[in-house]
Amino acid sequence: MSALLPVLSARLSAAAAAAFGTPYDPELRAATKPEFGHYQSNLALRIGNAVGQPPRAVAARLVESLQLDDLCETPEIAGPGFINLTLLPQTLATAVNSPETLAGKGRRVVVDYSQPNVAKQMHVGHLRSTVIGDALCNVLEFAGYDVIRQNHVGDWGTQYGMMIEQLLEEDLAADSLDLQGLQLLYERSRRHFDADGTFADKARLRVVALQSGDPATRAMWRHMVDVSLDDFDQVYELLGSNLERTDVVGESAYNDDLPRVVAELEEDGLLTESDGAMCAFLPGFLGRDGDPLPVIVRKSDGGFGYSATDLAAVRHRVSTLHADRIVYVVDHRQALHFDMIFTLARTAGWLDVPAEHVSFGTVLGPNGKPFKTREGGTVKLVDLLESAVARADALLAGREGVDRAATARAVGIGAVKYADLSSDRGNDYVFDLDRMVAMTGNTGPYLQYAHARLTRLLSKTGPSTTITTLKDPAEQRLALLLTGFAATVEQVAETLQPHRLCTYLYDVASALSVFYEQCPVLSSEGETRASRIALCTATRKVLQDGLGLLGIEAPDAM
Ligand code: ARG
Repeated sequence: MSALLPVLSARLSAAAAAAFGTPYDPELRAATKPEFGHYQSNLALRIGNAVGQPPRAVAARLVESLQLDDLCETPEIAGPGFINLTLLPQTLATAVNSPETLAGKGRRVVVDYSQPNVAKQMHVGHLRSTVIGDALCNVLEFAGYDVIRQNHVGDWGTQYGMMIEQLLEEDLAADSLDLQGLQLLYERSRRHFDADGTFADKARLRVVALQSGDPATRAMWRHMVDVSLDDFDQVYELLGSNLERTDVVGESAYNDDLPRVVAELEEDGLLTESDGAMCAFLPGFLGRDGDPLPVIVRKSDGGFGYSATDLAAVRHRVSTLHADRIVYVVDHRQALHFDMIFTLARTAGWLDVPAEHVSFGTVLGPNGKPFKTREGGTVKLVDLLESAVARADALLAGREGVDRAATARAVGIGAVKYADLSSDRGNDYVFDLDRMVAMTGNTGPYLQYAHARLTRLLSKTGPSTTITTLKDPAEQRLALLLTGFAATVEQVAETLQPHRLCTYLYDVASALSVFYEQCPVLSSEGETRASRIALCTATRKVLQDGLGLLGIEAPDAM
């Protein structure tokens, strides 16, 4: 079964061509109220405007030429000339019985996400990037893209020169420190660097040694990276992220490309020297003071920075990975950075495919300020996630037939992820565990519960897979929603807005609860019963698949 909306749209467009000589886009939309049927079009109003005829008369002529009786009830003309369509129950049943699958696109998308920094704890911003990035990768894969994940870990830069010198000075073995130890080492080395010029000079030389590949220096650096990656993997594990070690392509991976990147920009005449640094000034990018803003590709000390690395990464993704689309899941504060990088890369001829910054807002603490520990430090993600799991575990107390530990994990982590994904990603949100784990409202546990309840119901009935009758409006409304799954996923793949999938799943769960109230399943009989079981089976699949795309587990019992 192909999707319903395109078929109905094509028929309406054909009617417009037959009656008025032009195949208008019918702009068919889901009806806003049940009394308007299933779909609505304002086509007659637009044509009426264009040809100077009363819209209701135009609507009557359109309906006359419209061939829809195999799919819909007789179309209705409403209000000033809206055309309302109601699908025949059989059309709905057929659409739910054989759901639409999305074809492969033969297109490759590179998704840059998570991107924590070596020698630092992951913070809630990295949590958002990881959760949103995972969900988008799943959705893009489902929509038929070939997805390449890139974890652009911050593992390069002058701070490693300082840290290695500090290690040597304190006579510490590189492998004696865990992530916490590395973070403290960084802080000591920073203070030392600021206070002691001789140390600062040694640290600078050490950066040169690191960048040029001195084996002893590289070995110490490698150790810091590995300790950090092990720690990140623990967070990914607890989170159920799809990210693998092989997806890590950190800033260091581009080290050897940097001189060439700068040389090419220079040959193209795109660079200007400013206070000893090599900069690109792009038209239209001005600072608050109205002065042109630079993209600094080489600093005055000769070192390359974050921007040079990102330029090399863009080039690599287009020319080596053959991306047809590039997506960066990074917080909103880096919007200008990406805008400038994309513009410069296009100017240099390195970027000829869409590049999108999937920007997101800040996670706030209970005080409405960016989420920090009481001392102002980074909140440890593992602790945060574990407290969500503990909260979920308390909710499950006394439940029978539930694998308590596994379910608490699925519900606690699911709650955190859903809260992150369900509001427009551009918005800030308050990290409020009580609200996240609530069993009512637009939450992860509410959807998981809807799924578990269906699973329990279906374990009591025999199987039934084919809907043959849909008489009750509540059944029809649920069936209509189920037909929209693929189109919703497609829309998320297009807009990169996971909250649309959350809203859709919440609508499905809400329609399901109305269905439960109006349409008994176990106590009904014959064809009605079999059909309702099949409708429940299809609903369960949509909830399970939808949660799966969001990266959220759907336990069978809770
Ligand atoms: N590591 C950076 C940070 O924590 C984010 C990197 C984003 N990705 C990129 N290609 N610049 O802020």
